[in-house]
Amino acid sequence: MNILVVGGGGREHAITAALARSRKDPSLFAVMSKKNPGIAELCEDFLLAKETDVEKVVGFAVRKNIEIAVIGPEAPLSVGLADALEDAGISVAAPKKAVAQIEFNKGWARNFMKDNGIAGCPRFEVFTERGPMDSFIDELGDVAVKPAGLTGGKGVKVMGDQLPDLDAAKEYAASLLATGSVVVEENLKGEEFTLQAFVDGEHLAFMPTVQDHKRAFEGDLGPNTGGMGSYNDAGEILPFLVEEDVSQAKQIMLDTIRALRRVTGVGYRGALYGQFMITRAGPKVIEFNARFGDPEAMNVLSLLETDYTDVLSAIVTGTLDKLDVKFSRKATVCKYAVPAGYPDAPTSDREVTVGDIGDALLFYSSVYESDGKVYTTGSRAVAVVGVADTIAEAEKIAQHALDNLKGDLHSRRDIGTAGLIQRRIDHMRTIRNMQ
Ligand code: AMP
Ligand code: GLY
Repeated sequence: MNILVVGGGGREHAITAALARSRKDPSLFAVMSKKNPGIAELCEDFLLAKETDVEKVVGFAVRKNIEIAVIGPEAPLSVGLADALEDAGISVAAPKKAVAQIEFNKGWARNFMKDNGIAGCPRFEVFTERGPMDSFIDELGDVAVKPAGLTGGKGVKVMGDQLPDLDAAKEYAASLLATGSVVVEENLKGEEFTLQAFVDGEHLAFMPTVQDHKRAFEGDLGPNTGGMGSYNDAGEILPFLVEEDVSQAKQIMLDTIRALRRVTGVGYRGALYGQFMITRAGPKVIEFNARFGDPEAMNVLSLLETDYTDVLSAIVTGTLDKLDVKFSRKATVCKYAVPAGYPDAPTSDREVTVGDIGDALLFYSSVYESDGKVYTTGSRAVAVVGVADTIAEAEKIAQHALDNLKGDLHSRRDIGTAGLIQRRIDHMRTIRNMQ
């Protein structure tokens, strides 16, 4: 089987590594904008091109007789790469543009949830003008402000330390109007988690829940990033969740997939990513992504026991309900090493060297290889993942590996530590007990 992976980050390295474990021995190909050494090593051939260059990607896929394509990042989904590959006769385990807009058009996504009565939608409005937007910000009193388009998770600001007061919220929202419409919504209070599923147009196969860490610095301080690291517990549920939280989140994702088909006429295929906030009133949707999360893909794909090529075949033939998709009951902790100064003023073109990483898995992200050496680009560089029976053991494995990555790098030591997890549990207990 010839399989194409589009994208060159940590998520795509994890996708490629999971495919390389297949007992069916598929031939793997990649399109990436820079040479990710981890992906390159696992592939028979790769093309260095922009993932959004639809013509080049389709041309490469046709030349290599690709049977199934997987698309990692959001940008190629937003330019209709899945549609173009299908038009060229290639099966695609990634959503077409009409349904992928659940991610790249946040205003559309919120209105879609409201119009279709999907549970877990916060109070929100979408604006193109300042006057009514200011009034709505006053009315809600505590808000999150987001540009409607794609921002790599970095354009969203919430009241609290990022927007100190209503005036700051109004100013920030007004500044975003220059780039397009703006979504203003209630500031949800609780703990966040990620639930991902494989989807075949109709059926969903859920993965273990994961918690990402968006803030750049320890103690959840500093600017939002693409995600500094993530963990899951052995089994399906995170330590601060109860089963009901996860079953409600699953129902929301199932209802979303059904409504997407009803509204657009297109079946959603690929990975669906639900980011939820567990509030006092149950799970609320922060956003949907039309792809795996990065870093969350590295947690769950490292645990996938079912042959990934079988999962892809089931996605493209609509037979996921007939496949038992299994994950090992292990905990994982993933930590990213990012360039110093990331995300606001990152260094770049600095060498990264990998020492003894023990039992950890290593995934290259935004790096490039030159003369056999690996260099940073200014975005998240290398991730390490510990896999073990408990979060604490997995954390030790990941941290040991991180300590042996050398370069002008920064990371969060606190991800997966007992202290931080206890804070999540205590926080959730307080939220659930609030009157
Ligand atoms: P996003 O790019 O939508 O994932 O948002 C980035 C981060 O902003 C999320 O991980 C949340 O921490 C935060 N956020 C987004 N929307 C809200 C909201 N309505 N209430 C509280 N926090 C939010
Ligand atoms: N980790 C967040 C995302 O992939 O969007």
